[in-house]
Amino acid sequence: MSDEKLYIVLMGLPARGKSTLAVRLRDAFQKSGIASRIFNNGNLRRLYRPLDETANSDFYSPENNAAVALREGFARLNMERAKTYLRSNGRVAILDATNARRARRAAIEKHLNDHPLLFIECINDDEDILHLSIQEKINLPEFAHLKDRAAKEFLKRIDYYKMIYEPLKPERNYLRIDSLQNMIIEEKHSDVIPFYERLRDYIVTDEVKNLFLIRHTETEYNVANRIGGNSKLTPKGRAQAVALGLFFKKKKISYIFTSEKSRTMDTARAICDMQDDCRIISLKEFNEINAGICEKMTYEDIERKLPHVFKKRGADKYHYVYPEGESYETMKPRITQGIKKAFFLNRRAKNIMIVGHQAVNRMILSHFLYRREDDVPYIYVPQDRFYHIVSTQDKKLFELKRYE
Ligand code: F6P
Repeated sequence: MSDEKLYIVLMGLPARGKSTLAVRLRDAFQKSGIASRIFNNGNLRRLYRPLDETANSDFYSPENNAAVALREGFARLNMERAKTYLRSNGRVAILDATNARRARRAAIEKHLNDHPLLFIECINDDEDILHLSIQEKINLPEFAHLKDRAAKEFLKRIDYYKMIYEPLKPERNYLRIDSLQNMIIEEKHSDVIPFYERLRDYIVTDEVKNLFLIRHTETEYNVANRIGGNSKLTPKGRAQAVALGLFFKKKKISYIFTSEKSRTMDTARAICDMQDDCRIISLKEFNEINAGICEKMTYEDIERKLPHVFKKRGADKYHYVYPEGESYETMKPRITQGIKKAFFLNRRAKNIMIVGHQAVNRMILSHFLYRREDDVPYIYVPQDRFYHIVSTQDKKLFELKRYE
């Protein structure tokens, strides 16, 4: 067995996905039989200091000398622990902290000089994601005592870090990544970095442990064969939603991602109500294809009143753009963005659920399951079944299952 060892040092503003990446990397290394451990400064802070001190933004002010000293102390302690770990059986030590200042990083490089060291900077400036991530963070017990001041305190904490933030540059080895897109933006390596290829691979791979992809249940428009709009569930649709809830009762669903249309939210609500701790997050990215001038029409109406539209769409359904609306092709970037957002927000949970629409779910399926463009608009998306998708490095599964 080779005795190569590596320090990975994360950096980035709060709520940029560092800890999620740390967990993903650790799990992936462990799975390949490479002993790996995370050294998280926030965990030490929470362990050694009272929560009502460290949840307050003051604790992060660059002018609060006492707190700066405490935080530097935790960083040093983790450096020591990481070093000791690699001196024993550990192979990859992951240091998880903001490490926003160049001086801190220089100290890390100087101290952890017995094995190669790679910095990974996590960047993500998507406002929606930031907002939703902060909502998630402030639900943690750490913030409970702050009540409705929690979000403000957290934003102020971020602002303090922005004041001292110096991006990676002189460091010998680094990767700069977009943590929402799982994309490497920049890389520099002056030393030979062990496990480099597989590390890159772990970063860019979208792993899907369990995706339950559901189409909203029957609506009034479905019965009338009308498209688009924002119609309600029928009594049969409501019963189907309850059946879904019962079916998923024993699985732990922490989040359900929906569109902004009431038919997806109402379906999701019935499922959520039967869970212990579940939240619905509605994303505009998952709204159904915009049929433009054809919204709310039946397919028969379109054929009769707008025969050119009907004919052209039939001839090339994937590329056809509804006048004042969308095509499958033009929907693709927003669907991809929705998938990235849902996976970013759901990052810690084993199960992920999306309640979408016919065209939306076809696009989501085609993201994981290769289909020729021409075939995508015809993927079968029934309302009495759902897709169970697993797509990891060693397992691929697509199953259409009944819930009733
Ligand atoms: O009929 C339900 C629906 O979700 C419509 O709102 C949407 O326009 C349509 O399906 C998309 O399917 P297709 O591309 O086959 O028309």
